[in-house]
Amino acid sequence: MKALVLMVFCFFLLLVASPSASALPSKKSSKFYPKPCKQFVLYYHDILFGRTRNILSNSTSYRITNATNLGNYQFGSLIVFDDPITKDENLRSPPAAAAQGLYVYDMRNDYSTLFVFSLIFNSTEHKGTLNIVGSDPLGAPSRDLSIVGGTGDFFMARGIVTFTTKAIESIEYFRLKMDFKLYECY
Ligand SMILES: *[C@@H]1O[C@H](CO)[C@@H](O)[C@H](O)[C@H]1NC(C)=O
Repeated sequence: MKALVLMVFCFFLLLVASPSASALPSKKSSKFYPKPCKQFVLYYHDILFGRTRNILSNSTSYRITNATNLGNYQFGSLIVFDDPITKDENLRSPPAAAAQGLYVYDMRNDYSTLFVFSLIFNSTEHKGTLNIVGSDPLGAPSRDLSIVGGTGDFFMARGIVTFTTKAIESIEYFRLKMDFKLYECY
C-alpha cells in the first residue's frame, strides 16, 4: 500500500515537473499525435509603425507601451496589430484574412512574446474566426501556439499553429509562416 502511495506521489511529481510551455517541442514522438482533420498554411505580415525609414508605407501595428527597464529584452512592450494574412509570402497578395490582437514581450532574460489574437476570415471562401493564444520565443526555429477555438466556418475548432519566421526586413517588418493543424473540425 505504501509503495502504491509512493508511486502515485512520484507520478504526480513527474507531472508537475514536466515542461508546460507550449513553444517547447514535445518529448513524445509526433507519431502518437492524431491526424489533423484540416491543415493549411497562411502568412502573417507585421508592419510596425516606427521612427526609422518606413519602406512599407502602410503600418499595420503599433507599439502601445514602451519596454520597462527590467532587463534588455523589451520586457513589457505591448504591440497591437491589425495585420494582413496572405496565402503566399507576398505582402501585396490579396489578403485571405486579418489577424487582430496583440503581442507583448513577457520574458525578462530573452526575446519572447505572448500572442493573443483572432484570425478573422471574411471572404467568399471562408467566414468566421480562429482564436489563437501562445508563447512565441523569437529565437526558436519554430513555435507551437494553441488554436483555442473558432466560430463560423471554424465552429468549435481546436488545434495547433506552428510559427516560423520567414523574414525580418527591417526592425519594422517581419513575416511569419503559420502552419495550421486542426484536430477538431465540424
Ligand atoms: C465582411 O465583408 C462584407 C463584404 O465586403 C462587409 O460588408 C462586412 O462589413 C464585412 N464584415 C466584417 C465583420 O468585417
